Amino acid sequence: MTAAADSEATPGRHGPPHIPVLLSEVLEALKPTDGATYIDATFGAGGYSSALLDAARCDVLALDRDPSAVQAGQTRVTHYTPRLSLVLAPFSDMSDVVAERGLAPVDGVVFDLGVSSMQLDQAERGFSFAQDGPLDMRMFAPAKTGGLDAEDSGRLERGPSAADVVNTFDETELANILYDFGEERRSRAIAKAVVQRRLDKPFKTTLDLASVVGRVLGQRGGDQKHPATRTFQALRIFVNDELGELRHGLVAAEQVLKPGGRLAVVSFHSLEDRIVKRFLTERAGKTPGPSRHLPMQSIQLSEPYFRIVNPRPLTPSKGELDVNPRARSARLRIAERTNTPANLAAS
Ligand SMILES: C[S@@+](CC[C@H](N)C(=O)[O-])C[C@H]1O[C@@H](n2cnc3c(N)ncnc32)[C@H](O)[C@@H]1O
Repeated sequence: MTAAADSEATPGRHGPPHIPVLLSEVLEALKPTDGATYIDATFGAGGYSSALLDAARCDVLALDRDPSAVQAGQTRVTHYTPRLSLVLAPFSDMSDVVAERGLAPVDGVVFDLGVSSMQLDQAERGFSFAQDGPLDMRMFAPAKTGGLDAEDSGRLERGPSAADVVNTFDETELANILYDFGEERRSRAIAKAVVQRRLDKPFKTTLDLASVVGRVLGQRGGDQKHPATRTFQALRIFVNDELGELRHGLVAAEQVLKPGGRLAVVSFHSLEDRIVKRFLTERAGKTPGPSRHLPMQSIQLSEPYFRIVNPRPLTPSKGELDVNPRARSARLRIAERTNTPANLAAS
């Protein structure tokens, strides 16, 4: 099950704007204490930030690269003044943002990857194949929201939209994106159909693309998933460089955490979870054995930068899934920073 598939089941339009996933497990992992400082790398609707601030007399520095999330979060900033700071920035910039504010080292960092229910529910953002909107998918679309200063805007350069990708990339590049970031087995057939169709008319809307993908794949028997799920996931990951962001964000977290500080990462699909698992395995000074068909053998490589708290990721309880189906594919990995100085060359 992919993030996109689950995301389309999000209760956003009919329920609360965004239900925080694995919240009690994240709190248990970070163990908020009075006087501590935490980083919420993906503020969204502020569910994690608020829970941390409510649990202890601590401070939270929150980041989000979406101007509309930052603007909507201003009421929470006011509510928690002066303990909550909310900065418009990608989490790959976390160590700079923390250094600029003289906050390092910090006691905990949490990531809740992917898109929020609000982003999916705004048809004009173009993330959803269930509602028609411009084929955009950039998380850092310049907001009609305004209110950004020049320095903030400079952090977030706008790359190509999803429409730019499907209308201009060649067939092989397109197929590779769908395969690499959507694990779409029919990537070549979809890329071929997209390239043929755009000769007549460029793609402009989400439903336009979804219907072409639907025609190539058909609705598979018994499959609840929309046929365009993997295509949309792939384009969103590519357009926002989500996997590159994650790699840099993890390195930044290692740099800003104090010895004993906790890292908690909630991911929603196997591409993300693989990166987190691999990073932590390597940074814990171990590397997997040479064969994936043999039981995991660990080789001690170097001084560890992290101690892995839960070798197997935590997943949501049935009770949580009953109220929030979006949590279905969530996985939480937790690690604790050792006192080995950060390795700036890690990636
Ligand atoms: C799943 S939501 C987080 C929800 C949040 N935990 C809550 O409880 O409300 C993910 C958020 O992360 C933001 N985001 C995604 N990638 C990011 C990145 N590389 N840097 C900063 N923010 C990012 C998205 O804009 C979105 O608002």
